[in-house]
Amino acid sequence: MMKTLRSIILFYVLVFFGFNVSPTVSDCSYPIGAQIQPSYNPGFTVFYQNTYKIVNNTRTNEVYILYCSASAPAPNVTGVSSAKYFQVPVKNVATLDIPTVTFLELMNVYSSIKYVNNTASITSPCLQKNIENKSIQNFNSSNSNDINVIFSNPTQSYNDNKTVNVNIGDDLTPLQKLEWVKFFSLFYDKEAVVTKTFASLQSIYLCNTKNLANISIVNKKTIAWVSYDSNSNQFEVKRDKYHAQLIKDAGAYSTELSVSTVNINELHSIINNAYIVIDESQSIASFDAWQRTFGYYPGQSDVNIPDFITYRRVYRVNKHVNFDGYLDWSESSAARPDLAIQDLIAIQYPTYQSSYITKWLYIFSNNDSPILLTSNNCVNPNQTQTIGNCSVINFTGDSSSTNSTVNNGLYGSKKLPPIAEAMIITFSILAGLAGFAVGAWLVLVIRRKHQERFIELKDEPEVPEVQMSNVTEPTNTSV
Ligand SMILES: *[C@@H]1O[C@H](CO)[C@@H](O)[C@H](O)[C@H]1NC(C)=O
Ligand SMILES: *[C@@H]1O[C@H](CO)[C@@H](O)[C@H](O)[C@H]1NC(C)=O
Ligand SMILES: *[C@@H]1O[C@H](CO)[C@@H](O)[C@H](O)[C@H]1NC(C)=O
Ligand SMILES: *[C@@H]1O[C@H](CO)[C@@H](O)[C@H](O)[C@H]1NC(C)=O
Ligand SMILES: *[C@@H]1O[C@H](CO)[C@@H](O)[C@H](O)[C@H]1NC(C)=O
Ligand SMILES: *[C@@H]1O[C@H](CO)[C@@H](O)[C@H](O)[C@H]1NC(C)=O
Ligand SMILES: *[C@@H]1O[C@H](CO)[C@@H](O)[C@H](O)[C@H]1NC(C)=O
Ligand SMILES: *[C@@H]1O[C@H](CO)[C@@H](O)[C@H](O)[C@H]1NC(C)=O
Ligand SMILES: *[C@@H]1O[C@H](CO)[C@@H](O)[C@H](O)[C@H]1NC(C)=O
Ligand SMILES: *[C@@H]1O[C@H](CO)[C@@H](O)[C@H](O)[C@H]1NC(C)=O
Ligand SMILES: *[C@@H]1O[C@H](CO)[C@@H](O)[C@H](O)[C@H]1NC(C)=O
Repeated sequence: MMKTLRSIILFYVLVFFGFNVSPTVSDCSYPIGAQIQPSYNPGFTVFYQNTYKIVNNTRTNEVYILYCSASAPAPNVTGVSSAKYFQVPVKNVATLDIPTVTFLELMNVYSSIKYVNNTASITSPCLQKNIENKSIQNFNSSNSNDINVIFSNPTQSYNDNKTVNVNIGDDLTPLQKLEWVKFFSLFYDKEAVVTKTFASLQSIYLCNTKNLANISIVNKKTIAWVSYDSNSNQFEVKRDKYHAQLIKDAGAYSTELSVSTVNINELHSIINNAYIVIDESQSIASFDAWQRTFGYYPGQSDVNIPDFITYRRVYRVNKHVNFDGYLDWSESSAARPDLAIQDLIAIQYPTYQSSYITKWLYIFSNNDSPILLTSNNCVNPNQTQTIGNCSVINFTGDSSSTNSTVNNGLYGSKKLPPIAEAMIITFSILAGLAGFAVGAWLVLVIRRKHQERFIELKDEPEVPEVQMSNVTEPTNTSV
């Protein structure tokens, strides 16, 4: 170890003073302590050799030889003839794949990002800062020479020897997605520190899962995670591994269904009894428009208004957006399952951790403005992602929370209460966010981004808060 360190220092000293030295094989190595092994079968494997690692990305059928020596090895391994070679640690990268950004932030290597697919899509405040001073720019293929690796994904056909295609999709569970942080660590030789980061986030996730595992069946709630595709005019009730596992781990039931794409009558039969609905439709801007599209507008024929509308329990992941209306959820949720699960728990059980303020989920049915993330929210550029903690408690749910009381306030702005409760779970990503009501212009921007054909509505009376026993036929509102 010391020897390695000494030779590395010597190497840099020599380079610094302009000697033309070529490091030899002994200049680098991957001891056991600096190795990762995936534990949830996330879709990649790594095989360590003395001075290089063979990474098999089985989700995109790519093999990479990551070598720390001065020149590329000629490894004698079956099936790697088509491998792409990278000298590591990489220094300058392009991240065309959006979720990759937060994985690099988790390792504190986001300063290596020189190019992204679209600077307007970036929500991370500290990255926005680097966009403002032009240290991050839009990528085009003539920029390839400036960088060591291009992290992309299969949605883009751009492909060459420098491109690493990742595919961190919803067919992966929340912890499988998180495990891709280990994949990125391989390119930065950050295995040792990432092993710890992964373990911390995993243990927070599993601690919350365990805390919610003991809710009695009568207290369990059903969450329907839906979206509407305006091109196909189809509704989807999400049942992929990511959403199903997240809902289950947050102590709730998923809606039971046999198909994922449904028409409106099937949709109603599946979701009408849900306690909470989370909507991820891209093309619907207002709750009024959502109610019309989903067939729940008061006065629409044959509509029984379900409880989740009456009690305002329709949520969205759109709480934090950037100036151009892009969602922070799309950028950072894959790397932060620890927060995703706490968001999902908070909307079901506000008493579980009363000081928790959701990061992404907010009540759509309240028509609140989203919170704008700007470069001013970059508080600590040295550590943009902060890891919280979780204590094991005996939580059995609550039986009386009919009303949605989740705090739609500023994420991270609330002071912790005194350590009075049995459990403290805190985190402080983007602590000190200075958020402001972003006003109608933002809504307009978002509408434009989502290419919504927006239906202008007269002010409709709000859906009255009624006790469940009073819910009978909807009042007939002229449309
Ligand atoms: C390559 O692998 C084959 C079979 O595993 C082995 O016989 C051969 O010696 C290897 N060659 C080198 C240069 O390592
Ligand atoms: C990579 O994984 C695939 C699928 O498991 C396998 O078929 C292939 O042989 C592997 N390649 C290498 C070089 O390990
Ligand atoms: C980059 O942006 C283009 C245009 O929006 C999109 O088609 C493509 O899929 C994006 N690439 C990646 C890797 O996300
Ligand atoms: C841009 O700002 C970031 C963070 O403030 C800094 O690390 C970086 O060096 C700056 N880049 C340039 C080109 O000024
Ligand atoms: C790509 O970038 C280069 C230099 O940054 C610029 O000259 C060129 O016009 C760009 N090409 C496109 C298609 O944007
Ligand atoms: C990619 O790398 C391989 C192996 O190093 C090389 O044979 C090939 O020419 C490279 N292709 C391009 C387009 O650079
Ligand atoms: C970030 O790290 C640099 C170098 O270690 C240090 O000078 C600077 O004060 C740090 N900034 C903050 C906000 O902690
Ligand atoms: C838990 O988080 C709080 C607030 O971030 C912090 O003060 C405390 O030290 C953490 N506890 C542990 C055990 O990490
Ligand atoms: C779950 O609750 C039961 C009884 O209500 C109790 O015996 C058991 O220890 C609890 N389990 C956990 C993990 O708290
Ligand atoms: C958990 O709480 C339930 C109900 O409050 C109680 O019956 C049970 O004994 C508790 N279990 C433990 C392990 O404390
Ligand atoms: C729900 O909200 C209504 C109106 O604000 C209130 O009258 C009712 O008591 C609340 N119910 C619960 C269980 O908090």
